[in-house]
Amino acid sequence: MAIKMIPFSVCFLYLSLNFRLAVAVCNIPSIYHGDWYSQEAGVDVKTNVAFDKWRRDSVPQEQLECISIYTHPQQSSIIGGMNSSMVNTTMLMGIFGETDVNKCYYCIDVLYRTPNIIQYKRQDCIRLNSGKPITIDKSCRGITEGLPTMDNAITMFRRSVVKLNCITTIEGVYQFSYEVGGPTSLGGICNEPRSRIAACQDPGSAYVDNRMFLINYAKCRDVSTSVDQQIRYQCMGAWYAVKNGVGYTFAAVADTVEADERERFKCMMTLKDQKDPNNQIRWVMSRFPSCTSLNSIYDGDRKLVLTRVIPTTDYLPPQCVLPRNMSGTWFTQGQQFKSDVFINETHIAYKTKINEFELLETYYSCQQTQGTRYMMTRVTAGRCEVDFVCFDLMPRHHSVIRYRVGKPSRLSDEDTGNFMVKKFRETCSWMSFTYNRDETDWKYEVLILNPPTPVPCPIAGRFNFEQWPVRDSEKIATRIRGVTPRPRIQVDCRIIVSEIKSCPVDMNRISIDAEYCETVDYRGRPIGEYDVSDYDLTCVGFWMEDYKSYLITWDEEDAISNFRCWVYERLSWTDVMMSRSQNARCVPDQRADSFQIPGTGLALKLTESERLFDDCPQRFDPGLDPYRKPTIIYILNKSAAVTPSIIIISILSLLLTFIH
Ligand SMILES: *[C@@H]1O[C@H](CO)[C@@H](O)[C@H](O)[C@H]1NC(C)=O
Ligand SMILES: *[C@@H]1O[C@H](CO)[C@@H](O)[C@H](O)[C@H]1NC(C)=O
Ligand SMILES: *[C@@H]1O[C@H](CO)[C@@H](O)[C@H](O)[C@H]1NC(C)=O
Ligand SMILES: *[C@@H]1O[C@H](CO)[C@@H](O)[C@H](O)[C@H]1NC(C)=O
Repeated sequence: MAIKMIPFSVCFLYLSLNFRLAVAVCNIPSIYHGDWYSQEAGVDVKTNVAFDKWRRDSVPQEQLECISIYTHPQQSSIIGGMNSSMVNTTMLMGIFGETDVNKCYYCIDVLYRTPNIIQYKRQDCIRLNSGKPITIDKSCRGITEGLPTMDNAITMFRRSVVKLNCITTIEGVYQFSYEVGGPTSLGGICNEPRSRIAACQDPGSAYVDNRMFLINYAKCRDVSTSVDQQIRYQCMGAWYAVKNGVGYTFAAVADTVEADERERFKCMMTLKDQKDPNNQIRWVMSRFPSCTSLNSIYDGDRKLVLTRVIPTTDYLPPQCVLPRNMSGTWFTQGQQFKSDVFINETHIAYKTKINEFELLETYYSCQQTQGTRYMMTRVTAGRCEVDFVCFDLMPRHHSVIRYRVGKPSRLSDEDTGNFMVKKFRETCSWMSFTYNRDETDWKYEVLILNPPTPVPCPIAGRFNFEQWPVRDSEKIATRIRGVTPRPRIQVDCRIIVSEIKSCPVDMNRISIDAEYCETVDYRGRPIGEYDVSDYDLTCVGFWMEDYKSYLITWDEEDAISNFRCWVYERLSWTDVMMSRSQNARCVPDQRADSFQIPGTGLALKLTESERLFDDCPQRFDPGLDPYRKPTIIYILNKSAAVTPSIIIISILSLLLTFIH
């Protein structure tokens, strides 16, 4: 029985193979169906793809039918969502209706890019009589050697464009310079402020603005290739592909008014994370509907260099003023990034370095104010949104402003008429400052004047200290600082102590010496007097918040952060505890003895040790009233500053002398 079965099954297999070659048995994926435009060797080509047919409508006309299909394993896409129907395939096709045994078979590799873009490559004719049987696995190079690349595939543009959101292609508001013509361009670069790109999506909007963007070309008088032209492009989707070993983002767009398909479709290319030192973004755009002419972001038919600009809105001119003494240049440490902040009477500008190449510029303009609350318009360079946010600004003290920012409220099309009152109520209600009702643990943000004006330190006196560093790099250790004004003296030191002091000689400074030489010389003076302290911290501001005392110091030589935040607390008459944060921001749960929680790293315990001739009285200010005027009087003929009590006593005694 078994012996008889084998020839039968072989025969069946043979028959079925023949049958497969003779009759179309494969379905072209539905995502490829439709009418397409492509440019092949400079000629316009229109193609119709249907159920099992691939028909070229342009002359020479030709109709292929699908014989066999191989679906390549799907790779997840970086851009946009994918579903199981979005596939790359290799198809074996034959000329429809051709009965000749020597007829041509073709292998077609298709790359799915976006619902509007597919790319394909067709291999040369394969004939049956070439010896080997034709099978898709053996004959098609797309399977044996891999799919085609950006360079050797032809890009097909869907003629009735499927509506897609532009967000994967381009978003934001930009000014741009452009250069028309490839490497042989005679024109030159046209950089006009009026040249603008506006690609503003309104999240959730079903309107057409999410699917189009506007390029406004302005003419430069000295650039002959420049034009005054406004073009609205419809987005056809974006994809990621490797070219010359570099992964680029490609995008296709369709001019919304152009009827000539040769002029209608364009291919664009850019590089994500361009690391441009000027914070600019380069795009190249093709002249014709083809992607092969784009070789790099410096080499394409039309080169665009985009600069982020702030969106235009009626709510930028200021309507109110900020407190006068807040004007200046400030520094703030956010949770993640630090920013330079510029404040004038009406505006606040944040410049935040996201990384070495990316700068985020945000502008606030004062609109309405009540008490300490200021409702401001917020715009960010390169972004479309216009928001209203509320600042709660505490009056400035020392070189410090404490503030909070409330939840933003977006300006939308419905905001008409006298809506500002409503906006103020919405953004500046006290509830808007806490993002979450249960979040009672909020703290003020801190702006620090940069460079700061020094203030007398809240902790003064001479102390020895004990330290708890979380790791060695946090430890306060002896170091040789750059150029010392006086060379270190090589002395035999018998008593070495740690020293931290802030004395009336310079009340604004805390000096720290990890190994201070307390040995005295023949005159009874400590030889350590000739030594230079390891760290000099300038006090910038201090205050009390939630029963914790905070201090900001500044150290020009600190490689980690010039500004540091400390939490300090007096333990007894002679002892003070302080905890140093990693940067200018104290973490919310930091206490005076914290050194292990993230964001901190060092705690110091100070023990009073004033010596007879130190002239360094102890002083401690918990920062209860940071607005109190510092009680110092500078005496000009002496470099030291003394406490007013001494002055008053001297004046009183002088008066007394006169009266008598
Ligand atoms: C199709 O192939 C290209 C190139 O190999 C690849 O980048 C892309 O992710 C593939 N698409 C799918 C849907 O797998
Ligand atoms: C996949 O997406 C296409 C285009 O967005 C859609 O037409 C099709 O129905 C989707 N298929 C599945 C299986 O979700
Ligand atoms: C304040 O700064 C903004 C932006 O930085 C600027 O546009 C404005 O002219 C400045 N106003 C004054 C009064 O200097
Ligand atoms: C700044 O001005 C406010 C009032 O506008 C005042 O309360 C505060 O003490 C001033 N601060 C400084 C450091 O001048």
